Amino acid sequence: MCGICAGIGHENQIDDVVCGLKKLEYRGYDSSGIAFLKNGEIQAIKSVGQIKNLEKKIDDEVCSHVVIGHTRWATHGSVCEENAHPHISQNGEFAMVHNGIVENFENLKGNLNCNFKSQTDTEVFVNLVEAESGTPLERLMKASRKVVGSFAVALLHKNTNSIFLAKRKSPLMVAVGKDGVFAGSDISVFAGKFDFCYIFEDDEFAIMEEDGVKFFDLNGNQISKKAVDIRDFDFYDEDLNEDFYMLKEIKEQPAALRKTYFKFFSEGLQFDFEAIKKFKSFHFIACGTAYHSCLLGAQFIQQFCKKDCKVSIASEFRYGSNIYSKNCLYVFVSQSGETADTMACASLVKEKGLKVMCVTNVPYCSLNKLADFVLPTFAGREVAVASTKAYTTQVFTLLIFALFLNDKATRLQDELKRFVLNLENLQFNECLLEEISKFKKIFFIGREQDYVSALEGALKLKEIAYLNCLGMPAGELKHGTLALIDPQTLVIAISTQRALKGKMESNIEEIKARGGKVLLISNFKHNVETDFFVELPDFDEMFMPIVSIIPLQQLALNFALKLGYNPDKPRNLAKSVTVE
Ligand code: AGP
Repeated sequence: MCGICAGIGHENQIDDVVCGLKKLEYRGYDSSGIAFLKNGEIQAIKSVGQIKNLEKKIDDEVCSHVVIGHTRWATHGSVCEENAHPHISQNGEFAMVHNGIVENFENLKGNLNCNFKSQTDTEVFVNLVEAESGTPLERLMKASRKVVGSFAVALLHKNTNSIFLAKRKSPLMVAVGKDGVFAGSDISVFAGKFDFCYIFEDDEFAIMEEDGVKFFDLNGNQISKKAVDIRDFDFYDEDLNEDFYMLKEIKEQPAALRKTYFKFFSEGLQFDFEAIKKFKSFHFIACGTAYHSCLLGAQFIQQFCKKDCKVSIASEFRYGSNIYSKNCLYVFVSQSGETADTMACASLVKEKGLKVMCVTNVPYCSLNKLADFVLPTFAGREVAVASTKAYTTQVFTLLIFALFLNDKATRLQDELKRFVLNLENLQFNECLLEEISKFKKIFFIGREQDYVSALEGALKLKEIAYLNCLGMPAGELKHGTLALIDPQTLVIAISTQRALKGKMESNIEEIKARGGKVLLISNFKHNVETDFFVELPDFDEMFMPIVSIIPLQQLALNFALKLGYNPDKPRNLAKSVTVE
């Protein structure tokens, strides 16, 4: 995780770098810091916690044309100012910000004769650079050769009016404008200021100067790179017009789904469905919420295309004894397109000469670069750590994908359109929240596609309200978990499939018989009394996973707010999980 950015230009860069860090804060918010050149010296300002804490420490008169910055998600060493980046080398020659992990840092540390002030791998890296000989770029290259692991770094040298960049595995991009050069971990840092940017490949290096950027390979040869056009990238909806990004993003879901529909059906999204139809089976691989989208994607393909699908959690697939097949398409779903486990599995599949498709929300992300087929989602930028609109657009995109593979999409176009035009944002009743917030033990149950909503609903509640809850298949309750049901337990039952109504009713009765309380979420009446009921609008069954998750997202958000937590920045998490 962690986000880095760097700016060099004719004007003061402090504000631009801090503003860039705010855009990258989703990558971690344990601490943040900047380092800059001032009268031939390197100075640094750091702070624990969110970037607003750092801002308070930066006086108005602080000014520099050469600045690097970092927002941290702690990997090596606790959350404290000593471990916050930038890290300065022992003799004060270099300052470094780093996203990634130096896996062999303990070995490297043993060979350096330094008094380390932090517990971080980055302090080892920057001292490794200082210990090398040559120009700053040569020293960075030599140090990089010794490093095992991943890095996107920006490096300051106290006697050089430049910023040095290096990349391996972690994302890094740089853009050149008339007032200077800016670099960052993702494209959002360029919003509104640059039309084109350069995306680094592994083991590429660069020198940023006020008037431009030069790129080099690991042998020090200057290389030329092609800039990509970022004018079409959706920066428009980044401003916070609600109290929290999560609320804003929940509310944006109907619009994001409409956008998805129009991209497929009237804006001529280019995608080679004919090539995909040749595959006999599909293997979906992802993490977290994206894994839940995969479960639904697989159900859609099995239902509409009658093709065999497997679904794996990336961190399990990676070390599992998988059976590979060239007739199988490996589909990787990821909002960020940077998740380390997902990326590692995609590389593994590519190395075997097999075909990779990815479904991602961030253009030019690392996953897109290695995929044979890229199916974008159109959620727009998602800032809150808890995924909401990215999830529902993934599910909708995978539904449309499955329909196109079975040539049903055009036939069902009107139905899809009716759905996106009629879906409203669904509110969660405040009084109901009051009632159910008493419960400390919560289970989410459902069958088939409702089971996926149960998993996703439980994940939301865990990650932002820190409640110990569990999502599970309704039919599994009786195989053990029923032992936990008592009058202090709330079971949230999601039931949107009419054919499974009777089965769900039986499960609800079993819970009631043990004194458990039940909140039923459904679009139709059931022949069973429940303690609470949330009525969903009634759409075709294939749309119901999108409909049923919205009140569950709202529930998690309201629960978190009621408990006094910031839903946008849950503890111990980051939006882009670039560690394994
Ligand atoms: C979602 O609410 C979570 N924050 C998390 O599970 C997330 O979906 C997961 O880390 C995968 O991220 P990705 O979609 O960017 O790969």
